[in-house]
Amino acid sequence: KAAYEIAVVRGDGIGPEVCEAGLQALAAALPDPAKLSLKEYPAGAGCYQETGVAFPETTFEACRDADAIFHGAAGIPGVTYRDGTEAGLDFGLQLRFRLDLYANIRPIKLHPGIVSALRHFEPGSIDYVILRENTEGFYAARGGGNVVRGEIASDTSIITRAGTERIVRQAFELARTRNGAPRDGKKRVTVCDKANVLRSYAFFRKVATEVAENYPDVELDFALVDAMTVHLVKRPDFYDVIVTENMFGDIISDLGAATVGGMGMSPTAEIGAQNGFFQAAHGSAPDIAGQGIANPLGTILAGAMMLEWLGKRHRDNVLMDAAARIDRAVGKVIEDPAMLPGDLGGRATSAAITEAVCRECRQPA
Ligand code: IPM
Ligand code: MN
Repeated sequence: KAAYEIAVVRGDGIGPEVCEAGLQALAAALPDPAKLSLKEYPAGAGCYQETGVAFPETTFEACRDADAIFHGAAGIPGVTYRDGTEAGLDFGLQLRFRLDLYANIRPIKLHPGIVSALRHFEPGSIDYVILRENTEGFYAARGGGNVVRGEIASDTSIITRAGTERIVRQAFELARTRNGAPRDGKKRVTVCDKANVLRSYAFFRKVATEVAENYPDVELDFALVDAMTVHLVKRPDFYDVIVTENMFGDIISDLGAATVGGMGMSPTAEIGAQNGFFQAAHGSAPDIAGQGIANPLGTILAGAMMLEWLGKRHRDNVLMDAAARIDRAVGKVIEDPAMLPGDLGGRATSAAITEAVCRECRQPA
């Protein structure tokens, strides 16, 4: 393919800064930056303030029709709809549901140079993926919940067979192909739920067990979500692929991120049958916006995930190579203590880190 069309939404707070950093790394990693045709579109809380619409229909259509969607971050505190929910979040949430981005892939990887909050784990020893089901569970009730007479509130969680089958299948396919670092060298899928208390989670586990029968080469493992929070602190090196319901995935992926340098180091990809949406897992951090000190690495790593996904999808090795370049470059740059950003205890600016990553990306392999 001559050029891939990327819909770029910069967003709010530090969104525009980290988005710019990500785009620079993409350009540096590709032999020909024109491989990506970037087009920018408005969305988010700032857009809502200016126009009264957080997610213009024209932006939605552009995102739907692009080869991939690349995002900075969204949200301004206090910019809310009448029901109290945040306007800026509409962009990401609507994309998930309207484009059926059912697989939320959240790699949890300890890069060289980063001291884990779990101090006895070395770089390389934490390297697993949380596969979060992204369209069901409580999130499917968004906007449809009930408050009765100001006294009783309810949201209904939905788990379907089809929704569970497709995400669990993806978990096993991912375990087959990835080279993670479980300490015993096994390929493993851990199903994380609360099957001991709620029927919907028992159903999730039952369907997952049925899917697993097609993958005898991958170990099937179970964890209740409360115990999972303990395991991810005590033995993160046991995990390979963790598949879980939407809300649980939201929660345990923040925990996982905290063990590998925090949200600033964590990319996320939301994938459907046709579309891919890529960004850092962190929010818009309005408290440090505009100061040039945000950690750009989460977004830069999200760019690598985008190239890898596009490369696989279109069998384009140029993109796959560029993705690997960015990954390697980040590992190399962050090894230098002078390159640590504020959230990792250092003082490097976003620009300095981004320049170093770009320089590293341009080195001959
Ligand atoms: C995430 C975020 C979103 C979520 C918010 C911003 C709607 O926390 O992607 O994890 O809750 O899913
Ligand atoms: Mn979250």
